[in-house]
Amino acid sequence: MDVKEMFKRFLFALLLVYFALVVVVMGQDQSGFISIDCGRLPKNSTYSESSTGLKYISDEPFIQSGVSKSILAEYKSTLQDQVAYVRSFPQGIRNCYRINVTIGIRYLVRATFLYGNYDGLNQLPEFDLHFGVNFWDTVKFDSVVISNRKEVIHIPLKDNVQVCLLNTGSGTPFISALELRPLKNTTYVTPYGSLSLLLRADIGSTINGRPAISRTHERTHIIQWVNSKLANGDIESIVEPKLEGDFETNSVWKAVELAMACVSRISTKRPTMSQVVTELKDCLAAEIARRNNSRLTDQSIVTDSVDEVLSIAMTTELSPFAR
Ligand SMILES: *[C@@H]1O[C@H](CO)[C@@H](O)[C@H](O)[C@H]1NC(C)=O
Ligand SMILES: *[C@@H]1O[C@H](CO)[C@@H](O)[C@H](O)[C@H]1NC(C)=O
Ligand SMILES: *[C@@H]1O[C@H](CO)[C@@H](O)[C@H](O)[C@H]1NC(C)=O
Ligand SMILES: *[C@@H]1O[C@H](CO)[C@@H](O)[C@H](O)[C@H]1NC(C)=O
Repeated sequence: MDVKEMFKRFLFALLLVYFALVVVVMGQDQSGFISIDCGRLPKNSTYSESSTGLKYISDEPFIQSGVSKSILAEYKSTLQDQVAYVRSFPQGIRNCYRINVTIGIRYLVRATFLYGNYDGLNQLPEFDLHFGVNFWDTVKFDSVVISNRKEVIHIPLKDNVQVCLLNTGSGTPFISALELRPLKNTTYVTPYGSLSLLLRADIGSTINGRPAISRTHERTHIIQWVNSKLANGDIESIVEPKLEGDFETNSVWKAVELAMACVSRISTKRPTMSQVVTELKDCLAAEIARRNNSRLTDQSIVTDSVDEVLSIAMTTELSPFAR
């Protein structure tokens, strides 16, 4: 592994710690959640999804049209329960879900599509998605087993929202799941009516292969886990093992403390983004200085500016995961 690669890994480890802690700020309270498993049979079913614990209901109360179908059994085992069934719309150009909501609440609305060769044709369809009367997005697929998710953030002015699938002549529209999550009204504040998702970088799913919330024993949150390690002065077990201990300890301490400050329950104790960037740059500078002094001096790294390394790490490592 060359030095530049080591740096990227080091930085990525720091960013992972930081984002893992920032992304999962609080535990999950499902009040106000609407989780609809489209096409799920029997029609009145209600269940808790086995990996997330989220409570899904069948889509029957929300739509009159379409047919219920099941994806191929061979794909089901590794996927979340809510994609096992789909509702497909072989008839009609436009088919809509109508979901009752609370006026004035900011919602995240997410539609999930996973083909799973439910129709046995092994042909990926393409169709349009509308939010009410507005075009939302075109749904396309790269793979039979990779889900496609579309999200908008919306504050309804009426007591219901409509999500519509439009047949554009390139295959039968279908949908796997529809989820609505009430957001704090301070989340994603915008002067515009709705926001559509451009990209979600799920960079906090795991840390050292450990999920944010351990489901094996009692539900230990990663923040509690990191806190217990820090209390014992055990920084090594928090850092990416592939680094094999080859990092600036002070720098890592600083980064982890920064991450912990970011998840403080008291908002005034949380640093601003520019403070975070400044601190991370300091951490990186300390690491670069250490490298500089070690036998591993590599001019290509020494001449890199911190900004450049940061931007390399951001652009090369922080790609979204399918989940
Ligand atoms: C669903 O409907 C069936 C038959 O109508 C009924 O026997 C069953 O109890 C219902 N289940 C739930 C969870 O409501
Ligand atoms: C939505 O609200 C309308 C009017 O209040 C009501 O008639 C309907 O049953 C509700 N639908 C669902 C699925 O709760
Ligand atoms: C958010 O909601 C609270 C209480 O409902 C209200 O006092 C506050 O002004 C709202 N803030 C925004 C940014 O809409
Ligand atoms: C690394 O060392 C070189 C020369 O030894 C020096 O000019 C440079 O400023 C050092 N860089 C850092 C970040 O300490």
